[in-house]
Amino acid sequence: MKVGIPTETQPGENRVAMVPAVAGSVIAAGHQLVVQSGAGTASGYPDADYQAAGATVVPSGAEVLGGSDMILKVQVPSMAEAGALREGAALIALFSPGRRLDEVRALAGRRVTSFSLELLPRTTRAQSMDALSSQSTVAGYRGVLIAANRLPRFLPMFMTAAGTVAPAKFLILGAGVAGLQAISTARRLGAVVSAYDVRAASKGEVESLGAKFVDLQLGTAEGAGGYAAEQAEETQRRQREALAPFVAASDVVITTAQIPGRPAPVLVTAEMMKGMRAGSVVVDLASDTGGNVEVSRPGEEVDHDGVAVIGVSNPASALPTHASQLYARNLANLLALMTKDGAFVPDYEDDIVAATVVTRDGEVVHGPTRELAGAAW
Ligand SMILES: NC(=O)c1ccc[n+]([C@@H]2O[C@H](COP(=O)([O-])OP(=O)(O)OC[C@H]3O[C@@H](n4cnc5c(N)ncnc54)[C@H](O)[C@@H]3O)[C@@H](O)[C@H]2O)c1
Repeated sequence: MKVGIPTETQPGENRVAMVPAVAGSVIAAGHQLVVQSGAGTASGYPDADYQAAGATVVPSGAEVLGGSDMILKVQVPSMAEAGALREGAALIALFSPGRRLDEVRALAGRRVTSFSLELLPRTTRAQSMDALSSQSTVAGYRGVLIAANRLPRFLPMFMTAAGTVAPAKFLILGAGVAGLQAISTARRLGAVVSAYDVRAASKGEVESLGAKFVDLQLGTAEGAGGYAAEQAEETQRRQREALAPFVAASDVVITTAQIPGRPAPVLVTAEMMKGMRAGSVVVDLASDTGGNVEVSRPGEEVDHDGVAVIGVSNPASALPTHASQLYARNLANLLALMTKDGAFVPDYEDDIVAATVVTRDGEVVHGPTRELAGAAW
């Protein structure tokens, strides 16, 4: 099978879907690998390294898109890219199909068999393909470094001849994959860390990393597949009320809360931030899906009464070398599940394949996406 790696074209996207170190295993599995020249440049992977790994580097994106049996991408193809795909080709990417209906429709129109890694079940067997986890790990780490860089204070405690410096207090809201990585990173830098989540398992996970769990005594909100469920408006109001003193007492608040397929819940309102000391920092890692912080804007820093509110857009893209390395390994593992002796033979009875397929045979087959688009399919 000819596997193609085009350059990502979405503004601000620095990652690439394949790295030279993983390319070798894709080729060893019997595939031909074709990489657009410059595809890895923004991630720190030059063309020569792909060639050394056995890939063919071609000058144009059109050649990759139109000439491959399987396209591996980070973002969903743009409308123009979808139009350039070979009819009947396959695609694996990390896109929220429910928020990219036009592109999904275009993929179905080209009879592309597409798979979105966001839909992967969070099971032990799927762990090595779990791109949400690998990219959230990068996001959580990055969020702490952004805050540390912006904070006008030390993170660790210092006892010096010039006096004692108290450690910075971090509050992490949402203790999933990104939140747990944020806790570890902030702890390594010497901050005192507290965290809150609505899932029952999170207390133990937070405490195992040496952070204090903030127990609001509001019960849990468990959804399907190990995810959180959306809470009723009244519960959300009580949650914000109970969180307010913890937010006020923090030098840094990092928010990571998400509900699959829904806008991110608002956990920090402008009113709650009034209690924060000037110079404090709020980093919203959920800003691309609506934001956990009322006043945050994706990709922007907002000054709110002396508190810096940073809405981080696509945080994984800011560490593209390692984000791409992990993502490429996730993709190679999913590809291996769907191919045999170099041929594309997806087993639609397999729970991983069945969960991730979005378009097939000219149809949108992912139920929730199909529903969002209405009966027009
Ligand atoms: N293979 C596996 O078994 C596997 C792999 C990865 C993750 N997981 C599990 O899946 C779950 C989801 O992980 P994720 O990081 O992708 O989740 P996510 O990105 O969907 O959400 C991030 C966190 O926000 C939390 N959250 C949602 N609403 C909230 C609210 N109102 N207040 C506070 N917190 C809120 C969620 O509970 C979650 O922990 C976790 O339990 C994780 O451990 C399992």
